[in-house]
Amino acid sequence: MQDIIQLKDVVFHWDAKKAPTIQIDELTIVQGQHTFIKGPSGCGKSTLLGLLTGINQAQSGKISILGQNLSHLKASKRDRFRADHIGYIFQQFNLLPYLSVIDNVLLPCQFSKYRESNTPAPMQDKARELLSSLKLPSELFEQPVIELSIGQQQRVAAARALIGMPELIIADEPTSALDHDNRKVFIELLMEEAQKAESTLVFVSHDPTLEPLFKRSINLMDINQAGRKS
Ligand SMILES: Nc1ncnc2c1ncn2[C@@H]1O[C@H](COP(=O)(O)OP(=O)(O)OP(=O)(O)O)[C@@H](O)[C@H]1O
Ligand SMILES: [Mg+2]
Repeated sequence: MQDIIQLKDVVFHWDAKKAPTIQIDELTIVQGQHTFIKGPSGCGKSTLLGLLTGINQAQSGKISILGQNLSHLKASKRDRFRADHIGYIFQQFNLLPYLSVIDNVLLPCQFSKYRESNTPAPMQDKARELLSSLKLPSELFEQPVIELSIGQQQRVAAARALIGMPELIIADEPTSALDHDNRKVFIELLMEEAQKAESTLVFVSHDPTLEPLFKRSINLMDINQAGRKS
């Protein structure tokens, strides 16, 4: 199996005058693996995801995603790399409220030729198929996303991350607004769809009850020396 994520001697400071937030000697995640990353609030989970996506830049060390060393890319190339290869589910979903459900799902195909070319025409049909697999009722597909419940919006955010089969799906606490039963159902659907696309899933949460659903689990406190010191 190919390594999809490789970190080596990575140090990241939000403020150079203060202690680092992330200091990780080594982290490897192989292709197709579904990994749960846990740790208490403030320990650096979202900061780490920012490093994996090239939104945050490490001050030292090496971060490779799909064999690409992110620090070798200029900012615009990093943005392109992220749009092409990473589906990101944000905690607050970041959906465009007045666009329809379908148009929200299709946004990544507008920003990335790669994801557009991975989506068979007509792309609307693929968006509908993903939303149906995630159990969103079809009568909502043309509605503005703002009219959906939080749980429904979460499914739209997941479909948007999955469309165009990005190699890496990253989810930052996407289930925090859901009750426990719905969290489990959502994660199982997300995993099923990620598996179909052969995408690697990195799922961050501080909820330990979700951990058994994943084959691999990493406590950020164990691998982050910065976290250990504070
Ligand atoms: N944009 C930022 N600028 C400066 N410091 C930041 C920024 N974002 C996070 N931090 C700091 O980095 C540390 C880790 O924050 P981070 O958001 O990564 O934690 P987290 O593990 O995701 O927490 P939570 O579970 O609450 O989401 C915190 O001390 C926080 O204050
Ligand atoms: Mg966070």
